[in-house]
Amino acid sequence: MKHLLSVTDTQDIIFDIMDLASKLKKDPWGYKTLKNKTLAMIFEKSSTRTRISFEVAMLQLNGHALNLPKSELQLGRGEPIEDTAKVISRYVDGVMIRANKHSDVINFAENSNKPVINGLTNLEHPCQALTDIFTIFQYKKTYKVHLAYFGDGNNVCNSLLLAASLVGMDMTVISPVGYEPDTGIVDQAKEYALKSGSKIKITNDISKVHGVDVVYTDVWVSMGDETEANQRLQMLREYQVNTSILNLANSRAIVMHCLPAKRGQEITDEVMCSHQSVIWDQAENRLHVQKAILSLLLGKDQG
Ligand code: CP
Ligand code: NVA
Repeated sequence: MKHLLSVTDTQDIIFDIMDLASKLKKDPWGYKTLKNKTLAMIFEKSSTRTRISFEVAMLQLNGHALNLPKSELQLGRGEPIEDTAKVISRYVDGVMIRANKHSDVINFAENSNKPVINGLTNLEHPCQALTDIFTIFQYKKTYKVHLAYFGDGNNVCNSLLLAASLVGMDMTVISPVGYEPDTGIVDQAKEYALKSGSKIKITNDISKVHGVDVVYTDVWVSMGDETEANQRLQMLREYQVNTSILNLANSRAIVMHCLPAKRGQEITDEVMCSHQSVIWDQAENRLHVQKAILSLLLGKDQG
C-alpha cells in the first residue's frame, strides 16, 4: 500500500491492519514504530476525532504531527495543490488530508513522494470504515455478521461498503430514493463480495433492518451539504435510528455512529445512550486503527 486514499487500497492488507490494531490497542505506548517520523495533517473541513486521534497516534508511536488548517496555508490563498504536495512531502514522512473533493486528495497524492492518507472526502472516509469493521470484530468476534446502514448513502457509507465486502461482512444500505450510495462503489463492493462471500444490498425498504447484527447511521447533512439541509431533513426523516427500528434488529445488535451525531435527526438520544450503543468505543478505536495504518505506511512494524 503506497497511499490510503480509498478502502480499495487496503484490499491486500486489511486483515494485517486489523491484527496490528488489536496488538496496539493492548499496549498503547509499547510500540515506537515511528521514531523521528513526522505527519502533516491538512484540514479543509472541521474535525474533532480525526485530528486528535492522528495527533495522539503519532505521539504514542514516538513521532510528531503538525496540524495544518488549509486556511492557514498558502493553499488557502490559491497556491496549487500540486505545488503544495511537492513541497510538504519534502519536509515530512507522510500526509493526512481532509478535503472537500476526493479528486483533490488524489491530485495531492500524485504529487507527493510520501504516503498520503485520506482523512475524509465527499466520496470516502476510509479510516472511519476500517475502524468500524475493527470495532464490530471486537464485539462480535467474527466478520460474518449483517450490518444495516441507515440514512444518507454518503462518504462513510461508501467506505463501509468497501470494507464490509472485503472482509466478508453482509451489508444492507437502507436509504430513501435519491440518497443511495455511489454506484461505482456499490459495483466495486459487489465484486469484492463475490470473492469474500458477503452479500451487499441497497434498498429503500426500512423493514430490511429485521434481524441484523449491527445498526449504523451517520448525519443527514454532511459537511458541504448544508445548502440542501431542509430538503435532506425532509427526505430522510423516516430513516431515523430509534427504538422501534432497533427493536426490529437482532436483540443482541450493536448500534454505531461515526460521530458527530445530531440527536433527534438520524438517531435518538435514547438509542445513542442505550446499552446496545458501542459509539464511544468506536470513537476510541480510531486511535488504535490509525496507529496500525500509520505504522504500516510510514514505518516498519516492529510489533
Ligand atoms: N468521525 C469523524 O471523522 O469525526 P471528526 O469529523 O470529528 O474527525
Ligand atoms: N458524513 C459526515 C462524516 C463526518 C465524520 C461528513 O462528511 O460530514
